[in-house]
Amino acid sequence: MKQYQIKPRQDAIELVDFTPQTLAADEIRVELKAASINYRDLVTRQVTKQSVVPFSDGSGKVIEVGANVSDFKVGDKVIGLFFPDWMDGSLNAKLFSNSRGAGNCDGMLSQQITGNADGFIKFPEYLNYQQASTLPCAGVTAWHALFEIPQPTKKGQTVLIQGTGGVSVFAIQLAAAFGLNSIVISSSDEKLEQAKALGATHTINYVETPDWDQAALAITNGIGVDIVLEVGGAGTLEKSLNALKVNGVISLIGILTGIEGKINPFPILTKSLRVFGIYVASKAMQSRFHQALTEHQIIPVISKTFEFEQADDAYLYQKSAKHFGKIVITNNP
Ligand SMILES: NC(=O)c1ccc[n+]([C@@H]2O[C@H](COP(=O)([O-])OP(=O)(O)OC[C@H]3O[C@@H](n4cnc5c(N)ncnc54)[C@H](OP(=O)(O)O)[C@@H]3O)[C@@H](O)[C@H]2O)c1
Repeated sequence: MKQYQIKPRQDAIELVDFTPQTLAADEIRVELKAASINYRDLVTRQVTKQSVVPFSDGSGKVIEVGANVSDFKVGDKVIGLFFPDWMDGSLNAKLFSNSRGAGNCDGMLSQQITGNADGFIKFPEYLNYQQASTLPCAGVTAWHALFEIPQPTKKGQTVLIQGTGGVSVFAIQLAAAFGLNSIVISSSDEKLEQAKALGATHTINYVETPDWDQAALAITNGIGVDIVLEVGGAGTLEKSLNALKVNGVISLIGILTGIEGKINPFPILTKSLRVFGIYVASKAMQSRFHQALTEHQIIPVISKTFEFEQADDAYLYQKSAKHFGKIVITNNP
């Protein structure tokens, strides 16, 4: 049996043999079928100080069930939760400290995964393993950012979506399914065409139009957008604040441009903006996300797939940012 482990402080992974642990009464064992990579996995690989199995996201088939487990049976198709202990309610420090693929919580890039049954959930039946492997981090984060915030986005409102990576492409699909107007910004005209094909209402190339905040204001007749899905972080936040209407919302998700920058907080005050920090999701949110996917028959967009042995290539491809949507690794033992 093989699994990847991050080599501490080396920005490297290695494929190692391992012997699966004995199954406890409240655990299930899952045979990995597919795993998907997130931007976070690039960062974790660079900074991790201890050996850990990488990747928060993976799907597989249940092959063994502990004596006390009633929610699953052998053969069930499941995904692992990003936060295996966060069932419902608000995130707290204890739940926050245990996320798959980082710290001392092994992730999903392993041919078998064993863990407490609560940390898994069945995925919608119409999806295959590869598609399902994209749901635990990117998919449900987009769902949370749009619909699980205190001021959930409503039909007819306008969302500004930054980029066309994993989280953002799910947001484009959810926006189209739920009747939101979307303004998608990307560095690539080709990706913007793909966004339009998925239902994006308006598109802006942020390289050709660096003042995309002004362009978004123009599209909304000077009123501003209702919500921004902020994946850029410090380098884009100021423009996002400009692009918002009075009482608008920022769902703060990512830090692609880094964590240091000068932010003028004045628009937050004058426009009564709300900034919500989003950190993936609870099991309850994941479940509601699955219901929404099923209702709208949304198919996750996979840009490229790699074999289990090609995990390093998947990291490189994620780093290149050539992808539109998700990158998936398959396990065909
Ligand atoms: N808080 C959470 O729960 C959570 C969950 C998932 C991800 N995240 C974070 O969200 C961010 C995105 O994650 P991901 O996995 O979706 O990343 P990803 O798939 O690697 O997406 C990268 C894309 O972001 C776009 N981008 C980069 N710089 C940009 C900029 N200055 N302005 C607008 N778009 C820009 C680019 O799109 P184009 O190529 O189209 O230009 C790029 O291809 C990361 O910071 C990640 O850590 C947070």
